[in-house]
Amino acid sequence: MIVRISDDSLALALGADALASGFEAAGATVERVSSWGMHWLEPLVEVDGIGYGPATVDDVSAILDGTSALNIGPIADHPFIKPQQRLTFARAGKTRPLSLEDYEATGGWSGLRRAQAMSGEAVIAEVTQSGLRGRGGAGFPAGIKWNTVAKAPGGRKYVVCNADEGDSGTFADRMLMEGDPFQLIEGLAICAHAVGAQTAYIYTRSEYPHAIAKLRAAIDLAAAIIAPLHMEVREGAGAYVCGEETSLLNSIEGKRGVVRAKPPLPALEGLFGCPTVVNNVLTIAAIPHILSEGGAAEYAALGVDRSLGTKPIQLAGNIKHGGLYETAFGISLHDLVYTIGGGTASGRPVKAVQVGGPLGAYIPPAQFDLPFDYEAYARADALIGHGGVVVVDDSADMGRLARFAMEFCAVESCGKCTPCRIGSTRGVELLDRIRVGAKVLDPVGALPQMHNAPKVARTADQDIALLEELCETMKFGSLCALGGFTPYPVLSALRHWPEDFQ
Ligand SMILES: Cc1cc2nc3c(=O)[nH]c(=O)nc-3n(C[C@H](O)[C@H](O)[C@H](O)COP(=O)(O)O)c2cc1C
Ligand code: SF4
Repeated sequence: MIVRISDDSLALALGADALASGFEAAGATVERVSSWGMHWLEPLVEVDGIGYGPATVDDVSAILDGTSALNIGPIADHPFIKPQQRLTFARAGKTRPLSLEDYEATGGWSGLRRAQAMSGEAVIAEVTQSGLRGRGGAGFPAGIKWNTVAKAPGGRKYVVCNADEGDSGTFADRMLMEGDPFQLIEGLAICAHAVGAQTAYIYTRSEYPHAIAKLRAAIDLAAAIIAPLHMEVREGAGAYVCGEETSLLNSIEGKRGVVRAKPPLPALEGLFGCPTVVNNVLTIAAIPHILSEGGAAEYAALGVDRSLGTKPIQLAGNIKHGGLYETAFGISLHDLVYTIGGGTASGRPVKAVQVGGPLGAYIPPAQFDLPFDYEAYARADALIGHGGVVVVDDSADMGRLARFAMEFCAVESCGKCTPCRIGSTRGVELLDRIRVGAKVLDPVGALPQMHNAPKVARTADQDIALLEELCETMKFGSLCALGGFTPYPVLSALRHWPEDFQ
């Protein structure tokens, strides 16, 4: 009997190795596969297509004799899996991550073979036609970026895969790297062929040891297939700002992870001063499907308006059914949080969701009809970012979460520009004052700097107005989105839950 158990790090953290040993001891053959992405059911066991989870060693014999109460029926028909449109995660749960045989058997390398028979220009035209936009946060069209690099003068060009995945509540990059590393490698090889790059780097954080090990092993296994492209994994120390593309390039070059001013764009002067494509893991991993026969048109037919294709959404935080949900753009938060996610894990009412990581706005249930679409989110002063959806219940103190956003910015700031470096620290102080109701004496009059100038107590309303003004300064005066977007969670919390700031 063949038993399939994931070796994804989430499954490992929940005891998948011990469970696998238990099945082996009972005489079963265990295959270690990628995760289906139903996190609340991990470690999930699959026997002849039927799922059992979350399982422990104590459940082994009941699962093997088919009497276990953990039976969830056929996994492919599960209500969390069946409605998904999995293109990037088509192999999730189905293949052994480091098996070249499984990869080939499921269409692997066909996009690369097709791309290699085409000119770089033709490949870029298909990427542009697919409507693919960067999945790392900014949603910039991938085809335009690739075209800029391809047309840039210079013999040495690079492709850099941004696998830093620093956003709270996100794990899709990690799942892809651990579960389907050849797909990322294939996407990078297609990109390198299209833009004329000789070297590709995958930059990820040292907190992802399983992903790093899988990628390195997969690169070794695929070396002959992607030759003469040279590919390497580079590890960062986990600073949030090292996910920002220019700071990431500095980090790969061995420098401190400080943001570079733009221009020049990395597409023209990136790694070691050479034209460089920087794309997120999910952007690159979408490429093999897009380059398969008819793939670009199929991709472009999904989604809404200018948000085309599918988006791997990560349901996290206080949610009953957390995990990876890939679907076409346009799905509402209501469907994601209630229908798919099952509401909160605590059973209490949902108070808010934060979409798009630590810089994303807090969205109240009254706005849960918002469709997953870059432009619709921008109009609502919100962010899609990397597609992390973090749920909090009604016990959350939104004033405290707003303070956390400012503090996060203060801690993670690279320090290059004043609105972020100083503004975030002043923002934390201001929020503390507002929240404890402390009065500050402001000097008034013509010469307020004089120590004996008359003073008046600042009211809470004045402190809030000052916080709003500070947020405006950070929004428009910061060099990168860390300082520039921190006002989103702060101001959205203030706007929708003013009572939490009293
Ligand atoms: C503070 C900060 C952190 C970021 N972190 C990430 C990250 O972890 N992963 C990522 O792909 N993009 C991140 N980005 C966005 C990158 O700067 C860049 O836009 C992205 O890698 C481009 O790839 P894409 O077009 O495929 O999205 C971050 C940006 C900022 C300002
Ligand atoms: S906004 Fe913050 S992280 Fe970005 S460049 Fe300025 S100081 Fe650095």
